[in-house]
Amino acid sequence: MEILGIDVGGTGIKANIVDTETGMFTAEKFKIKTPLPATPEAVIEGLQSIVQHFDWQGKKIGMGFPAVIKDGVSLTATNIDAQFIGYNINKLFGKALRCELSAVNDADAAGVAEMSFGKGKDVKGLVIFLTLGTGIGSALFYNGQLLSNTELGHLKYKKSIFEKYASNSARERLKLSWKKWGGELNVYLNHVYMLLNPDLILIGGGVSKHFDMYKKFIDVPVQVDTASLLNDAGILGSAMIASRVK
Ligand code: BGC
Repeated sequence: MEILGIDVGGTGIKANIVDTETGMFTAEKFKIKTPLPATPEAVIEGLQSIVQHFDWQGKKIGMGFPAVIKDGVSLTATNIDAQFIGYNINKLFGKALRCELSAVNDADAAGVAEMSFGKGKDVKGLVIFLTLGTGIGSALFYNGQLLSNTELGHLKYKKSIFEKYASNSARERLKLSWKKWGGELNVYLNHVYMLLNPDLILIGGGVSKHFDMYKKFIDVPVQVDTASLLNDAGILGSAMIASRVK
């Protein structure tokens, strides 16, 4: 089945058509900037240009969205406009785009792709998948089964939450060296390890491709590896999850 996968992030919105049986993309990726402020109206306008680009009216869309999502309703808004709290994405985006839309948390979507086609494939026990981007997203898998809507980036740290110190945007905003930022990430990973005792931690998000720059600062008593699907995992996973929706 072909489904349009859309990954809504804090800085960009990426989309492509996914063949959900093979996990292959059947078109060229299309990307727009996340509007600022990312109000529902502004995001819908951006999404309309994506639907038009792929000529996708009336068809199925899977969407990864950077919030806790239950039954298609966004319940939080950390890096997006506050109007998204309590916003029924499935219904309202679906209506505006005239498509059947299924939204899930963005990290859950990317994690599902990584567990199906990447380094999480067939790994038993607890896998913690973390995306280090504008925020920190998390997806937990026990024997491959997703435990959705975990928000491990929001664990308390200093006077705020870990996401404000160990995400890639924190590295850029605070102008941290790889050593300094790697140190913050190490504190974070050890904290997560101490709480959950995972068997594998996978790091996704754009900064994972620079792993060589900071892996020497990471010292956790569990294997920490980079995700293999990099920036396309969110598109792929959201389409795969949508394909299971009857
Ligand atoms: C949000 C999460 C999201 C993560 C990555 C966090 O700020 O609360 O829901 O998965 O950013 O986008």
